[in-house]
Amino acid sequence: MAWQPPSNPFQRYPNLKVIFSIGAGVDQFDCESFPNHVRLVRMLDPSITQGMVEYATLAVLSLHRHLPHYLIAQRQAAWQPVPWTPASQCTVGILGLGHLGQAVATQLSYLGFQVAGWNRTHREINGIRCFSGPEERAAFLAETDILICLLPLTDSTRGILNRDLFYQLPRGAKLINAARGAHLNEQDLLQALDEGQLSVAMLDVVEQEPPLKEHPFWQHPGIIMTPHIAATTQKDSGFDVLLENIRRHRAGKQMLGEVDLNRGY
Ligand code: NAP
Ligand code: GLV
Repeated sequence: MAWQPPSNPFQRYPNLKVIFSIGAGVDQFDCESFPNHVRLVRMLDPSITQGMVEYATLAVLSLHRHLPHYLIAQRQAAWQPVPWTPASQCTVGILGLGHLGQAVATQLSYLGFQVAGWNRTHREINGIRCFSGPEERAAFLAETDILICLLPLTDSTRGILNRDLFYQLPRGAKLINAARGAHLNEQDLLQALDEGQLSVAMLDVVEQEPPLKEHPFWQHPGIIMTPHIAATTQKDSGFDVLLENIRRHRAGKQMLGEVDLNRGY
């Protein structure tokens, strides 16, 4: 079981049957290098889902209710109310309607937001407007006020948060990235913020973690950064999932969270 795999795992451990990822994401593993008989299993800890629901709620409410503005205003001793709108007038769009995307969508819908999601294959989720595939992406983006990225990192999603995507959102839209830093083109984000196309971003992940001291995100007034803490595996619940999977493997059953090595997630 590993977060970062050791080098040459298949030569070092010739009896290896399964690699369990400690995290939900498996982009740190080279799926193409897996021999046919070795499985890769990602962590489906219910605590990760709970953590991501909490983080997304925190981020959406903070951006929706202008918390970044009030944090800056307070330091300047400025009493500066800005108009707000009820959640029902704000559409949150979620990229990726997998385990985490679906749980987040449902919770935000309970809070009264209009919620839409975009996914590779079509989904039907009560109360959520679901879009799928490249042909429906522009329509999904055009109605999204707050965009949350919850995609796995693969060759088809790397760099997806870029200038082209930002300019398909309504002007002044807000961005939350809780997936992987490499989904985001960081220069394009800075430019979109400078140009007012995006108004603010909350990032739990960045390309290099931690970023260098001189990285512009640290001081940018339009960016809130958290140190990759949105959702981490908890010892107790994560261990239960691991044990269940070992039982399943011994019984010759499908394990929970088995990765499709061709798709990479
Ligand atoms: P998941 O259950 O595998 O869901 C991924 C979803 O993305 C699926 O519904 C999939 O659609 C969709 N998708 C994949 N490629 C796509 C594409 N090219 N275009 C459109 N949709 C695409 O994964 P998850 O458990 O929700 O986790 C998502 C990611 O969150 C993880 O991979 C990890 O990187 C990140 N994460 C971050 C933290 C943190 O603390 N920041 C914590 C946990 C996880 P199909 O089912 O149709 O293929
Ligand atoms: C954390 O980022 C995870 O993938 O579990």
